[in-house]
Amino acid sequence: MGDITRVAGKGELGIGQSIVVELGGQKIAVFNSGDGYYAISDTCTHRGGPLSEGHVEGAVVTCPWHGARFDLRTGNVLTPFGKDLSTYNVVIDGDDIKIQM
Ligand code: FES
Repeated sequence: MGDITRVAGKGELGIGQSIVVELGGQKIAVFNSGDGYYAISDTCTHRGGPLSEGHVEGAVVTCPWHGARFDLRTGNVLTPFGKDLSTYNVVIDGDDIKIQM
């Protein structure tokens, strides 16, 4: 079991919103899709766009740079370009959102 780090409170992350945190030297984007909280690499696998600034619809985020789309639940790319992303375990502990590395 890895380290667990609090990254935000539930009240700080409305539906469709995201935040970026740096953990273990990696930029991680944390999203509230409305039906859950998900953490993926913030760096788009196409050309490095900031996914935390992308549009979220359901469990899909669209990269703001060229429109690659990713499934927040799996990190899988849904467009013909880009590659699958790293995902991280989110742990909900009361009102706290935590990431397990
Ligand atoms: S950098 Fe994300 S789609 Fe190109």
